[in-house]
Amino acid sequence: MKVTVVGAGAVGASCAEYIAIKNFASEVVILDIKEGYAEGKAMDLMQTASLNNFDTKITGSTSDYSKTANSDICVITSGIPRKPGMTREELIGINAGIVKSVSSSLVEHSPNTIIIVVSNPMDTMTYLVHKTIDLPKNKIIGMGGALDSARFKYRLAEALEAPISDVDGMVIGGHSDKGMVPLTSHATRNSIKVSEFLSEDRLNQVKEDTKVGGATLTKLLGTSAWYAPGAAVSGLVQAIACDQKKIFPCSTMLEGEYGLSDLCIGVPVVLGRNGIEKIVDVPLSEAEKQHMAESADGVKKTNGLLEL
Ligand code: 2OP
Repeated sequence: MKVTVVGAGAVGASCAEYIAIKNFASEVVILDIKEGYAEGKAMDLMQTASLNNFDTKITGSTSDYSKTANSDICVITSGIPRKPGMTREELIGINAGIVKSVSSSLVEHSPNTIIIVVSNPMDTMTYLVHKTIDLPKNKIIGMGGALDSARFKYRLAEALEAPISDVDGMVIGGHSDKGMVPLTSHATRNSIKVSEFLSEDRLNQVKEDTKVGGATLTKLLGTSAWYAPGAAVSGLVQAIACDQKKIFPCSTMLEGEYGLSDLCIGVPVVLGRNGIEKIVDVPLSEAEKQHMAESADGVKKTNGLLEL
């Protein structure tokens, strides 16, 4: 199992690290345009192998896509991250050009790969990859919901004063401050609905804290977060590589599901060896349906800024 990670920045490197630590891939190639940077990150990570007990071989390359040839899975993290006060949508100008050229180069060398898009604005970048390259729709996946759901569970556990392992919940919709739809109606603490424990006001606070999860960290760190994004990507890569058939919310091209079409937005999907193997239909409350429709409008508005 060969995995390529494009972008040796904080998210790309942390993604490569989590994949290696989980020890399911034979090879991880990191690519970056900054001379020597990917090679350096790869060497540093390889020197943790004996300490962290993994056998995954990590190599780095400066922009040589031939090194990525025949990758089973490619992760695109390239582009600029947001700075405090910026929205993800404001990155579109620079990141669209980068994602277009990176995705074209990747499929040139790995025509049967599965692509996971992390670059922001993620739903629009995932849509752009669909419009740029010729891969079946199950093989182009946007990573946002897995991260947003992890942040939702963190906030739920905090509100419930419970361990995170006791909590389950999912965020669908666009990967943006306004677009995320935390499904409080489905969230549970050890199979009991969280509304049994938390007031409507407290649940609304959890929802709002979840939606600005990325912005909160960007303000604290001065740039966007990397540990949880890297861990979330590694979860998707592992589900595909190990054919786990796990459900994650991922950005995928919709063709009528959830009453939406011609956009990529986060919905629950089954991930296995073929990438997105099934889109799962979950019943939504009236408020969640309304929020999902507004979220889709926001994503379509950002898609409208693309020069296709
Ligand atoms: C975040 O929310 C990187 O968009 C990503 O942290």
